[in-house]
Amino acid sequence: MTTNPPPVVQLQGVRKSFNVGQPNETEVLHGIDLTLLRGEFCAVMGPSGSGKSTLLNLIGLLDRPTAGALSICGEDTTTFDDRALTRLRGHSIGFVFQYHHLISAFTALENVMMPLLADAGFPNATITARAAELLDNVGLTPWKDQPAARLSGGQQQRVAVARALAMNPVLLLADEPTGNLDTKSADAVFDLLRRVNQTQGTSVLFVTHNPALASRCDKIISVVDGQVVDGHAEHP
Ligand SMILES: Nc1ncnc2c1ncn2[C@@H]1O[C@H](COP(=O)(O)OP(=O)(O)OP(=O)(O)O)[C@@H](O)[C@H]1O
Ligand SMILES: [Mg+2]
Repeated sequence: MTTNPPPVVQLQGVRKSFNVGQPNETEVLHGIDLTLLRGEFCAVMGPSGSGKSTLLNLIGLLDRPTAGALSICGEDTTTFDDRALTRLRGHSIGFVFQYHHLISAFTALENVMMPLLADAGFPNATITARAAELLDNVGLTPWKDQPAARLSGGQQQRVAVARALAMNPVLLLADEPTGNLDTKSADAVFDLLRRVNQTQGTSVLFVTHNPALASRCDKIISVVDGQVVDGHAEHP
């Protein structure tokens, strides 16, 4: 008998307020229910200011909900202390943002090595070899020794994807990773995320304002005014 793995992400009644207890306290997310299964590739759409990045920051354990339950791979994070959140984040979750956040003076290879070095569990030779393999997977072997500052926007974003995959996460959170790119580079980064999803089974939450890319995801959720609407929408 096989048992299904728990959802990679599960939110129940998640709320998020900023400036709690102050006169300018505002609730930005108003009770989000959301489930992302293993291997699912889900687009997150919605107007500017609707709460998409706030939602991804909660799911990425970079911030905590004000109320509600948030589980990652079946682990209820509600009672986790900061150390437990950091451990779970480091081993389970990769991030790609609109701006790549690479260290511009470091080479592509060195940037991809960073999370592996930070983990302290790997010998140096393994780290270099793994980083080189990750860069090869995103088609950047010829550029691996170039400083990040000298790469194109699309190449930088592919380095950021390689870095996000360094710890082999079950979940990749991508917050408008193609937002700053021309159409061709955006397509290349999207295709890369799709390939990672299909070959490695990585679950992906992909925030985008681009309906054409969203329509190529398994499902689309829309965040409007801090609430998920049409949570089970299929392709438009
Ligand atoms: N640290 C914070 N303190 C106070 N308010 C915040 C904070 N972060 C976000 N907000 C507010 O929360 C709301 C949602 O912001 P968020 O960045 O999640 O929107 P978004 O959907 O990602 O928008 P965009 O499409 O422009 O990236 C906005 O009104 C924003 O001003
Ligand atoms: Mg945002």
